[in-house]
Amino acid sequence: MPDKFVSLTPELYAYVLEHRSERDPVLAELIAETGKLGGLSMMQIAPEQGAFLTLLARITNATSAIEVGTFTGYSAISIARGLAPGGRLLCCEVSEEWTAIARDFWTRAGVDDRIRLEIRPAAETLRALPESETVDLAFIDADKVSYRTYYEEILRRLRPNGLIVLDNVLWGGSVVDETDQKDDTVAIRALNDFVASDPRVECVMVPIADGLLLTRKRAVGEIR
Ligand SMILES: C[S@@+](CC[C@H](N)C(=O)[O-])C[C@H]1O[C@@H](n2cnc3c(N)ncnc32)[C@H](O)[C@@H]1O
Repeated sequence: MPDKFVSLTPELYAYVLEHRSERDPVLAELIAETGKLGGLSMMQIAPEQGAFLTLLARITNATSAIEVGTFTGYSAISIARGLAPGGRLLCCEVSEEWTAIARDFWTRAGVDDRIRLEIRPAAETLRALPESETVDLAFIDADKVSYRTYYEEILRRLRPNGLIVLDNVLWGGSVVDETDQKDDTVAIRALNDFVASDPRVECVMVPIADGLLLTRKRAVGEIR
């Protein structure tokens, strides 16, 4: 049987990038600014992921969103741009230095009034939130060993049909390399296995950039 997937070449990836709607000059400037941080800039999400997050925010009609792992603010702008009128995004991050860049670009993108940034370990910020199921959309992109904690804290606050999006779930392909037993790899592998059989959610892995895991919270009594 022929493969039902296409391996990306640089040319094909350029083609993918060419065929998206969001062409925000502020985001292009943010890519350039973050590039000045050298190798650290690898932490920034890919442009097509940003466009995808904007689209997800729009189709979920999100008014309440959470991001775990903000860095210089690219994914936050992408989510904030797609929020419904009056929508708010809570950003959880530990770095004052990188979020100084984020704050500057949020202002330039005109989304600063929609974003609240909490500078402290994300687990603390999440645990302090009300337990009501009101979150529409969450994006998890911080320290990998804590993904399960973030997933659980957000899932209990997610509305039925709300979405949690987890980044880096392919981890450069290491998830299928059993010789790789590094903490991050083991944590991502375990989380992927856990979510795939978690009856509370419906999930699908989307092989975009380093892999996104999309999880939808099931409604109580939902037929499976
Ligand atoms: C991959 S980067 C996030 C990239 C970002 N989503 C973007 O679009 O540019 C991961 C971020 O998680 C942050 N981080 C690491 N541990 C954290 C923690 N315990 N709580 C909150 N943020 C944390 C790091 O400081 C870093 O900025």
